[in-house]
Amino acid sequence: MTTVTEALRPIGPDIWLAEGPEVRFYGVPVATRMTVVRLACGGLWLHSPVAPSPALHDALDALGPVRHLVAPNRFHHGALGAWVAAYPDAVLHEAPGLGVRRPDLRFDAALGSSPAAAWADTLDQTIFGPSWYFDEVVFHHRASRTLILTDLIMNLDGRRYGPALRWLGRLDGALAPTGGVPRTYRWSLTDRVAARRVAEMLIAWAPERVVFAHGAWFERDGTARLARAFEWLVGRPDAQSGPRTDANPDPHPDHPSAGRSRGRAWRPVACG
Ligand SMILES: [Fe+2]
Repeated sequence: MTTVTEALRPIGPDIWLAEGPEVRFYGVPVATRMTVVRLACGGLWLHSPVAPSPALHDALDALGPVRHLVAPNRFHHGALGAWVAAYPDAVLHEAPGLGVRRPDLRFDAALGSSPAAAWADTLDQTIFGPSWYFDEVVFHHRASRTLILTDLIMNLDGRRYGPALRWLGRLDGALAPTGGVPRTYRWSLTDRVAARRVAEMLIAWAPERVVFAHGAWFERDGTARLARAFEWLVGRPDAQSGPRTDANPDPHPDHPSAGRSRGRAWRPVACG
């Protein structure tokens, strides 16, 4: 039988990572990663679920009941159907812009710029954007000081690609060892002032670890590496003016986190 640590790697108190199968993103093969957090009530919170497997199900079931399935941006939804089928009682959370792409899924709640009551005692939350490409819901696991990103930062192993893809990846700023926010995404931001406020807040959370879905995540020195990744937006740390703030800026006041848009009545979200 597969042990928990084979399918789920613990990286701190009540937080694990699962490495998923490779997927193709616009034709580029990329590895995938899921983050699992055990909430204070004991329920499991699955971020960006990767393709499930019997070993992964066994490992999760040994940790606790799966209560929340979180789709953090409009691209990370490929495995959601399988997870909903496996855990029909789990609450399915929708990122901005995802509902229209997956009308076949019944989302129970919309992710907003502040944490849902079910995990407010465990996770910080905001939305990075706005962008015409995608907005991403970002989380911070306080107990382990882990920032949980999805596509905002990539750190891909260029040795896996041919010369053309490697050249493109380097041009995009998405290759190891430093990785970064892909330039194609930087150009998509429609309000840099709002995005900068969010980036400053992520840095102010002072994470030790920064997890993301594609490539070698930052296992230590998270705040410094995060600041370097966002230097194009916030400037160098020693050149920034004015105090940073922990107040959660909300560049998405119209996101239907309260169930206002599209006339939906969202399902009440309980912890576990
Ligand atoms: Fe992705």
